[in-house]
Amino acid sequence: MKRLVAAVVLSAWATAGWSAGGGLDLLSTRVNVEDTASLQRGARIYVNYCLGCHSLSFLRYERMGRDLGLSAEQVSDNLLYAADKITAPMSIAMRVDDARKWFGVAPPDLSVISRARGPDWLYSYLTTFYADANPSRPFGVNNVVFEDVGMPHALLPFQGLQTYVRGETPEGATQVHALGLTLDGDDILVRKSATMPDGSHVPVVDRLTVTEPGEMSPGEYRSAMRDLVNFLVYAGEPSQLQRQALGFWVVLFLVVLALILRALYKEYWKDVH
Ligand code: HEC
Repeated sequence: MKRLVAAVVLSAWATAGWSAGGGLDLLSTRVNVEDTASLQRGARIYVNYCLGCHSLSFLRYERMGRDLGLSAEQVSDNLLYAADKITAPMSIAMRVDDARKWFGVAPPDLSVISRARGPDWLYSYLTTFYADANPSRPFGVNNVVFEDVGMPHALLPFQGLQTYVRGETPEGATQVHALGLTLDGDDILVRKSATMPDGSHVPVVDRLTVTEPGEMSPGEYRSAMRDLVNFLVYAGEPSQLQRQALGFWVVLFLVVLALILRALYKEYWKDVH
């Protein structure tokens, strides 16, 4: 029993660690890998706007189609741009040394990124690109949760361009550190805390706001990013769909087995007393 409690506490702690993102409270997103329509929408975004740079080499088109309830024709017609065979893994044609030349770093394979970073981090990452005119930024954007990222904002046409409006830092502050992200209507707030020379803390709030609208409203964009993150969580462990479905039957089996064993136990001990 003690071990069970320890395991539950540990796993809760591990999941909480996910959302910590280096001490920053992230925007939270609820993913549901059983929402097939959401996975299909996420896959479509991924194949069209991410797969050009990021492979998902642990996943084959065929498997994805099957898991997402798509026929082989639907996959071939709508999702198969980067390969010619549906049995191929979702890899990319870009060469690593070319990628290094273009972006400074090779775009990583994202097969297990949802497990490495967690869904909230991915969601926060995909929603917090902002304009950065600093000439050292090759693509004119930066990111709140991945500072000085080497990736262009691939979804700029949809989200539009956000401007980072800095809150006023009180004069004499010795240190300012970020606490977390929160939604405020269409905007995203970056909450910070300034430490004053006398040791007190003063809140500072920066704001990300869309100043050049894209094709989607901020709400639509966030919903699309939930679908995309959902798809990445699925891709991190495609068999979780079967595992969860199987889990129900395993538990049912154990319950029935327990009932039978209890009846058997009673039967055995009936005459002893
Ligand atoms: C033009 C190429 C390109 C496209 C398109 C692109 N990325 Fe990236 N991405 C990169 C590069 C390069 C990096 C590495 C950045 C770095 O390490 O500074 C990166 C990094 C990332 C990371 C962070 C990985 C880590 O180290 O934790 C994630 C997550 C990510 N991309 C997701 C996406 C998603 C989702 C899409 C589709 C909407 C996408 N990317 C589209 C080039 C691209």
